[in-house]
Amino acid sequence: MGFSYVNDRLFCQNVDLAAVAQKFGTPTYVYSESILKRNAQVIKNCFIDRGVQVSYAMKANSNPEILKLFRSYGMGVDIVSAGEFKMAQHIGYKAGEINFAGVGKTNEELTLALEFGIDHFNVESQFELELLESRAAILGKNASVLLRLNPDIDPQTHPHISTGLKKNKFGMSPELVRHLLTHAKDYPHINFDGIHCHIGSQILRSQPFYDLIDYLALFTADLRSLNVEIAHLDLGGGFGVNYMDPFEDILETTPYLEAYVDVAQKKLSQYQLHIQPGRVLVANSAVLLNRVLGTKVNGDHYFVVIDGATTDLIRPALYDAYHAIYSHQKRETSRTGDVVGPVCESSDALAKQRELPEFCTDDLLVIASAGAYASSMGSTYNLRPLSPEVLITEAGEMKLIKRRQSFKEMISLY
Ligand SMILES: Cc1ncc(COP(=O)(O)O)c(C=O)c1O
Repeated sequence: MGFSYVNDRLFCQNVDLAAVAQKFGTPTYVYSESILKRNAQVIKNCFIDRGVQVSYAMKANSNPEILKLFRSYGMGVDIVSAGEFKMAQHIGYKAGEINFAGVGKTNEELTLALEFGIDHFNVESQFELELLESRAAILGKNASVLLRLNPDIDPQTHPHISTGLKKNKFGMSPELVRHLLTHAKDYPHINFDGIHCHIGSQILRSQPFYDLIDYLALFTADLRSLNVEIAHLDLGGGFGVNYMDPFEDILETTPYLEAYVDVAQKKLSQYQLHIQPGRVLVANSAVLLNRVLGTKVNGDHYFVVIDGATTDLIRPALYDAYHAIYSHQKRETSRTGDVVGPVCESSDALAKQRELPEFCTDDLLVIASAGAYASSMGSTYNLRPLSPEVLITEAGEMKLIKRRQSFKEMISLY
């Protein structure tokens, strides 16, 4: 299943990655359908089958084929923009399967979602609540709302992907959430259905999740003592993956998933629970396939220059993130250096000071864990067209699920 060496050449399922490069060029994202299905099945078994509602956070990867696949396992979708809303509509998600999160929503975005009648909004500020109330009043609608609470819990992850600390821009203080819920009558077009928290991303330890459960148990007990009744608690996403060993099964990386549901359902038993996983469903399902343009030495620094770049995978530049590097053709010798792209920024590095397989011009260099926050964070900086995505189906077909952007398409915007 997934990615493995066959006769010293890296395959995705039964397809040699060299065949993908030959057919679609490089850089190209290559997805394994069997890994996507495995991940979806794990989330279904752990959460959906136990009555927890799952909304896939499409920011991690918004490819329609992936969305359709996850939907077929019973997942709804968590959106954060009008573009993601349009994509959800395009796929055919019903209104009741969509929730709208995000720290700032425009008038137009709220109106679009209200008109469609989406399941609920995760509201992050008082100004957003007031705007939603006024838009709902004008449209003669009622909006279901989960208030996003910032619990000030340290997720023990990279500072750029921590979202549940007081100093982060996300959510509202417990005092404000309590105030709004006890003044619900001031918002006649809002149904205050619950509370939402998302403390961060790439969380590998279970403790921050348990801290969140305990926090919410106390917070909701306090609300009950004030006669505030809510029905829903959304615990967000954040489950981490193993970037060091990208081909590991997600249940090995996050063995606490099942225990987490048990504890959440026990301690928060009065509530309908929701989660919004993103990364854990897609990160290990894809690699970024690149061609080596050449190698060079500056002083005592060795560089492998590839045709892929931070425009395809910005995580190393943005978060210092680690992505494992492989040679398509297994190599016996290695050399320490950086893997860099052609983009005109010193930060355009995909790996730094790594023990790398010894690469030569025209080799295929494979960057692992490129399924989450890779293609969806892609850009056209330096007028580099967006790279294509290929799904290796279980039947061994190379299915183009996003074509390479053409130069004409890029230039036609101007
Ligand atoms: C509100 C919210 N929910 C869910 C997610 C998905 O997080 P992850 O991909 O870590 O599961 C994010 C990620 O930023 C988020 O901001």
